[in-house]
Amino acid sequence: MTSLCADAYAYANIGIVKYWGKRNEALNLPCADSLGISIEALCTRCFCEWGEFEADSVDLGAKKLDPAGMNRVRRILDAVRTLAGFTLNARVRSENNFEPSSGLASSSSGMASLALASVRAAGLELSSAEISALARLGSGSAARAVVGGWAHWQRGTREDGHDSYAVQLFDEGHWPLRIFVLVVSKTAKKVSSTQGMRRCAESSPFWDAFQEACAADLPRAVQAIAAQDLQELAQCANANSMRLHAMCLSAQPAIVYWEPESLRVIELVELLAHEGIHCVCTFDAGPNAILLCDPKDAHVLRSRLDAQGLVYRESGIAGAGRVIQGAH
Ligand code: DP6
Repeated sequence: MTSLCADAYAYANIGIVKYWGKRNEALNLPCADSLGISIEALCTRCFCEWGEFEADSVDLGAKKLDPAGMNRVRRILDAVRTLAGFTLNARVRSENNFEPSSGLASSSSGMASLALASVRAAGLELSSAEISALARLGSGSAARAVVGGWAHWQRGTREDGHDSYAVQLFDEGHWPLRIFVLVVSKTAKKVSSTQGMRRCAESSPFWDAFQEACAADLPRAVQAIAAQDLQELAQCANANSMRLHAMCLSAQPAIVYWEPESLRVIELVELLAHEGIHCVCTFDAGPNAILLCDPKDAHVLRSRLDAQGLVYRESGIAGAGRVIQGAH
């Protein structure tokens, strides 16, 4: 029998105009469109093999996958089994080059690389939109990680979610901004994105305002990216991130994703803006900041972060996820 295996990788994708809210939790269908970028320094590699195994299994190295994580993986594997028309089980091995569950979007690269590898291992030829929709079943932001670059995830309107996938608006070379990934904490986040979204929907008085803000922020951000206007993008993206966290703080019980260092980063970015150095400063569901700056300003940012003793990893913008080796 031919062996049904493939290897793939994908980069973590962080929200610039955030996804925070589901209109269908089982299918990860979002309330609003979102926009994100893939980060070259944050990569997951996934190996998948289909065979007559007793059950699906996932090897994450030192870390163990919890039952909720296994359910997410199964949603993708079940969909691939249906498309392939077989009942085989999968052996999955996944490796991150960064800390998982620290607000560094590990589920995006993890589920995107799994979708790419499991589809190819099954011998299926799917479009990038179809793979993006499959990855979405595992984690919403993974839809964007499949296509990479500056990725726009269209919420779609269909109940089955087939029109809810990401498209790449600009590739990684369009505007080579420098990315600083600030790791202020390596511990797992206190409230998962799924739980956080649910709690905000149920209890935040700012829920509707946030969804409306995202609808206005998305075209504004796209225009700023097209024009390569960093000051405009920073104003739009930073406000969007602040609003997400303001909404989380306003939920009951409050969700506080930031650490004291997160506030120090916000202060530093404000100071720099007064000096005419504009940076995007955005936080997903965690304390770690992602900063984007013009490459000509990178040395200033480096020395200011060093002076504050803040730890960071530098990166460029990454492209789409890729299959390394197909079924054979
Ligand atoms: C704050 O994609 O992790 O990073 O769909 O429940 O897996 P699930 O959520 P996930 O949420 C990401 C939320 C965010 C914003 C963003 O990436 O746009």
